[in-house]
Amino acid sequence: MAPLPPEDVECLHPGLAEPRMKEDWFAYVFYDPPSRPFLPSYEVYLAMDGAERRRLNRIRNRYHSALVLAWTPAVQHFETEITELLAANEMAPPGARLGLLIDGPPTVGKSTLVKMIARKFEQELREDFPERFVPERLGSYVPVVYISLTDQVTPKQISLAIARYLNVPTSGTKDTIDDRVLTALTASGTQLIIFDDLHFLDCSLKEGRASNDHIKFLANHAPCTIVGTGVDLENSPLLSEGGPIGPRTKSARPKSPASGPRTQTAGRFSRQELAPFALDSNDRILQWVAVIRSLESSLALYQHKEESLTRRHWRYLHERTDGSIAGLHALIRRSAVRAVQQGTEAITREIMDSIVLSYAHERAYAKVTELKSRQAATEAKKQSQKQRAADGTA
Ligand SMILES: Nc1ncnc2c1ncn2[C@@H]1O[C@H](COP(=O)(O)OP(=O)(O)O)[C@@H](O)[C@H]1O
Ligand SMILES: [Mg+2]
Repeated sequence: MAPLPPEDVECLHPGLAEPRMKEDWFAYVFYDPPSRPFLPSYEVYLAMDGAERRRLNRIRNRYHSALVLAWTPAVQHFETEITELLAANEMAPPGARLGLLIDGPPTVGKSTLVKMIARKFEQELREDFPERFVPERLGSYVPVVYISLTDQVTPKQISLAIARYLNVPTSGTKDTIDDRVLTALTASGTQLIIFDDLHFLDCSLKEGRASNDHIKFLANHAPCTIVGTGVDLENSPLLSEGGPIGPRTKSARPKSPASGPRTQTAGRFSRQELAPFALDSNDRILQWVAVIRSLESSLALYQHKEESLTRRHWRYLHERTDGSIAGLHALIRRSAVRAVQQGTEAITREIMDSIVLSYAHERAYAKVTELKSRQAATEAKKQSQKQRAADGTA
């Protein structure tokens, strides 16, 4: 029997990786997810003593908890977009570099996607230009800057976050820090800046214009391509001035994206949407099924019926998760862990039914089941009316 991999290898799941400094980012670039564990035959597994089985199961749980990330059509699409933007922007004059905003509801995989793409971009740079990554230059060449915004971020905090990421002093006025940040970005050869969760940019009355101006300032002066993600960016004051810039409450937002004049940033970014998976055409059904297949085929379970999720449960999985990749990933991960725990060794409908997903996904599923039972009741009523009419005429 082949030896089991050591259990105590530290693994950093990309979903958990929230780099705050360039060193965190480098660790993420080098991170390899736990590899598929070797499974001895089922008979050998059943004959294992308690400790040995626990050890293998712990390794399997760790593996399932990371599961694979899927290069979905959306990931592939944005990879092409970002790669092309980077190439088109590389030597473009300041102010002529277009950025990209990826706009979509929560849990569609925006953050994961930008990190997957940026990680691959840097890995390829490391392969193609090893001289830039020699130990003497370690840490001074930083092709990717990844900043995750948190609640109500002001322009100064953005500059501070970049400064911290690049390890430059954070004391002084905003102008001093901005200056240092621009110098550091140039010196580090940064090509790609990612702002994750840009909806957290403070666009309130007080900071609104300053926030817009700051993003415009970076877009103009930093020699980089800027990619941002966020929720409902289309209606955010970042892109559209719906009259006076107000706090991000519903009433303060413009009624339609066309209702306010465009902001400075609107002229410097393209905006593309990332939506949950839908089943409204054959092509889209095939895309959803392909994602399920890629997750299902990586399971390390003894009795799982090959392609049973892909072939039999794809519609159920869509109803359970509302087409969200996060919901799908979570449901399969949780079910795999439970299948190991309970010894069923297969993800079945019963196991999936027993998993409670996020509140939002459960609410959406409750609506689907409610609608289905109402439709079933209406159908039953129609049938019994038909039957009664037939009985009456008989
Ligand atoms: N391409 C993918 N393949 C597999 N799972 C994914 C993928 N993208 C996202 N996920 C799952 O969804 C979770 C949430 O994704 P995230 O990127 O944080 O969504 P968003 O930023 O749109 O809210 C991730 O932690 C991961 O479990
Ligand atoms: Mg996110």
